[in-house]
Amino acid sequence: MKIGAVVLAAGQGTRMRSALPKVVHPIAGRPMIAWVLDALEAAGAASTVVVVGHEAEAVREALPAGVAVAVQAPQRGTGDAARVGLAALDPACDTVVLACGDTPLLDAALLGRLVEDHGAEERAATVVTGILADAGSYGRIVRDADGRVARIVEARDASDDELAIGEFNASLYAADRAALAAALEHLVASNAQGELYLTDAIGALDGAVAPLVWDDAEAASGVNDRVDLAACEAAIQRRLREALMRAGVTMPDPSGVYLDAAVTVGADTILLPGTHLRGGTAVAGGCTIGPDAVIVDSVIGPGSTVVSARVLQSELEEGCSVGPFAYIRPGCRLRRGARAGSFVELKNTELGAGAKVPHLSYVGDASVGEETNIGAGNITANYDGFRKHPTRIGARVKTGSDCVFVAPVSVGDDAMTGAGSIITDDVPDGALGIARARQTVIEGFTQRAAARAREAADAKEGSG
Ligand code: UD1
Ligand code: CA
Repeated sequence: MKIGAVVLAAGQGTRMRSALPKVVHPIAGRPMIAWVLDALEAAGAASTVVVVGHEAEAVREALPAGVAVAVQAPQRGTGDAARVGLAALDPACDTVVLACGDTPLLDAALLGRLVEDHGAEERAATVVTGILADAGSYGRIVRDADGRVARIVEARDASDDELAIGEFNASLYAADRAALAAALEHLVASNAQGELYLTDAIGALDGAVAPLVWDDAEAASGVNDRVDLAACEAAIQRRLREALMRAGVTMPDPSGVYLDAAVTVGADTILLPGTHLRGGTAVAGGCTIGPDAVIVDSVIGPGSTVVSARVLQSELEEGCSVGPFAYIRPGCRLRRGARAGSFVELKNTELGAGAKVPHLSYVGDASVGEETNIGAGNITANYDGFRKHPTRIGARVKTGSDCVFVAPVSVGDDAMTGAGSIITDDVPDGALGIARARQTVIEGFTQRAAARAREAADAKEGSG
């Protein structure tokens, strides 16, 4: 038995009311269909064909490289889609698993069991079914006297008695390729939707179709609208969180943590509510993330803290601290023990080991040397209205509060800048750069001013 897989993904997905093809809608940061393809691969499918049609290009682009595609045009129903897919499948595959691109909760355990069950005895097809009190819009499984699948009736075509059946079609099948291909040639569109139904072809495989009842009805959930999409997202989030918690990550309130599929988190890290780890983010062990942290495509070193912050495409080495209320924009690198504190925005900037930008600053296109302390309210003026320019601040520098560095400009190692300075010229190593108007002190000013005010008031009263 050589297993090939056909994934149906050509339908319009009308009920999503979306410009984006249904199977491309993301779940935990990946196209819905990618979850299906992963599960098929894990279950040992030797080759896979995805049937595309509606918005074919957008679906094709969302597929992992190397996945074979067959185009169904026009889209005349699931049976027609299966026929198109089978025709493109590796001829050496004598057994086919058919799945839908809109059932992202399939897991390798279910698919593995399907393949095993189907191979265990001579039969034309195996249909995965689930049982719900109310099977809603799913197709219903009508069994024969021997408990085999006699036919599958779509909810819109079903009688009241059939609608009362709780066993539904998960739209996941294993079938003998030749038998199914033959049945697909004889489909007619005699149903409410006027489509060629794969379910009719399965029903036509006379008495040789066995059900595989899967306890976990959730695994068979299909996404037809955005309510289903949210339910599948929640289920996958739950799986991802549970996997991390089992691997040693603490989440005091897991429901407040949002993960993308590829995210990794080390043991003894604490993820607090409002934490969103997106894209290829990798958080090392022993960190505290959140509450309220959005981290996208970034690397967070061991023992770091990120609280009330947004970190995009940046890297924090060991023991760094970000936030509260910090915005780390793409291209930042915080070396070991560096800190970006409250109301701080960094962009394309490197902070050396132990460097600190504690309060109210914007540092962009800059490098800051190790153990340097940037005073409160510093700004790198990196844009002259036409181009961006770099600012280089050396090691062990102390900048005064409220300094502006008009780039391009550099400050040497062990230098200082005076508070309120607008630094337009380079400051050499060990020097103090100060650039502000001298303060003038006017002695006795307030007393004299008060006396003048009193005299003016008296004069007004005397004349009145
Ligand atoms: C289908 C099943 C139903 C089952 C349900 C489970 C049929 C007729 N019905 O209904 O019994 O309970 O799935 O989720 O099979 N597609 C194509 N080409 C087409 C039409 C559809 O590739 O011409 C694809 C869609 O992109 C989708 C899948 O087939 O991925 C299922 O189509 P959909 O319209 O969602 O079928 P359901 O009404 O959900
Ligand atoms: Ca569906």
